[in-house]
Amino acid sequence: MLTYGCQMNEHDSEKISGMLTSIGYEETDDENNADLVIFNTCLIRENAELKFFGKLGEVKGLKRKKPDMLIAVCGCMMQKEEIRQKVLKTFSFVDIIFGTNTIHELPSLIYNAEINKKRSVDIIDNTELIYEDMPKQRKFKYKALVNITYGCDNFCTYCVVPYVRGREKSREPIDIINEVKALAEDGYKEVTLLGQNVNSYGNNLKNGITFAELLYELNKIDGIERIRFMTSHPKDLTDDLIRVIKECDKVCNHVHLPVQSGSSDVLRRMNRKYTKEHYLELVNKLKKEVPDVAITTDIIVGFPGETEEDFQETIDVIKKVKYDSAFTFLYSIREGTTAALMENQIPDEVKHERFDRLLDVLYPIVLDKNQQCIGKVYPVLVESVSKTSETFLTGRTEHFRLVHFKGSEDLIGEIVNVKITNVKTFHMEGEIE
Ligand code: 5AD
Ligand code: SF4
Repeated sequence: MLTYGCQMNEHDSEKISGMLTSIGYEETDDENNADLVIFNTCLIRENAELKFFGKLGEVKGLKRKKPDMLIAVCGCMMQKEEIRQKVLKTFSFVDIIFGTNTIHELPSLIYNAEINKKRSVDIIDNTELIYEDMPKQRKFKYKALVNITYGCDNFCTYCVVPYVRGREKSREPIDIINEVKALAEDGYKEVTLLGQNVNSYGNNLKNGITFAELLYELNKIDGIERIRFMTSHPKDLTDDLIRVIKECDKVCNHVHLPVQSGSSDVLRRMNRKYTKEHYLELVNKLKKEVPDVAITTDIIVGFPGETEEDFQETIDVIKKVKYDSAFTFLYSIREGTTAALMENQIPDEVKHERFDRLLDVLYPIVLDKNQQCIGKVYPVLVESVSKTSETFLTGRTEHFRLVHFKGSEDLIGEIVNVKITNVKTFHMEGEIE
């Protein structure tokens, strides 16, 4: 299984693995010997699309050597008619295509492809029905991804998600609470609640529960020690939610709050529904109520019509907020979105040049934030043995900072206190206390 894109896709892949395991498949990294290769695709930026098509081309040779191998493609790209047609026409060796709302159909699609030797395609656009009982083969034993909403109704003008993932729909609170309780019983310590816009959780539910109320309920579950959520939209970050972050001990003091741009004019044309001033006020309120809060963000550089002045507004926001970290993206034209049709698309070299200047401002701020951690002790959820040294472990603090420290493998999944001794821009180093 090859998974591209965000945590939503990662979690869909866990469901796909769960279903395949239940019908007798085992996961392998060795694609040469696989019976089934699945691509879970992403459409958010052109890069993700190109990577997928490159890899799909490579698999053609594999299929020639091993004709019984099944090739399946799913995920966001397959939700788009034109791309689906391109795959069907150009890549005749693809046996199965399904979408983000038809994961539960995979066993019957495999049956059809394998027994009836037919190409199997199953896509539905709507997110009306939520399939609750899909088995999940989770990647980790101590931290889990949990869906709370599907789809998105915001239609930010650059973004393809609302067109492929459909209208926003919330899961029933009881289903979420039961899933998290079951995870706690299985020894999980951390959950990350997933939605394109978690703050609007509950909007379409009859019982009128809000995201803040959901967090209150989840905070009561014994065994769970950390609750994270992704992604918050600034327009829906309520005072209630800020209070929950402050008061609920398990809710991590970390908010991922995508700003996208610092220019109110660009934000208006992005259909973000907040201004620079509103965003900064929100950040100030968060910092005042939760003094040790970590704030991370997403930023797009080179949105159509972005002037040097607009770009400077983004730089100004970075300096004012002092982000703990940020995901930065070059604007990528996505067919079918409103922004794709806007005039004044920014030339690539201007985008790149602004992007580099932005990182020159951002990285020293991130490093400085990390430096402030030196000498302090933080609880760290141990995630794995470090990639660079067998005697080192890697984990994350409540604020989502990555920490490397010496320790033995049996600590994986435990929360240990680590004193920070040294920091870099993208990680910190420490010693177990
Ligand atoms: N170009 C560049 N970045 C994009 N994102 C979404 N659409 C685009 C696009 N067309 C970014 C946004 C969003 C993150 C998940 O991806 O910053 O928050
Ligand atoms: Fe895309 Fe905006 Fe929805 Fe996020 S909130 S998925 S950026 S449309």
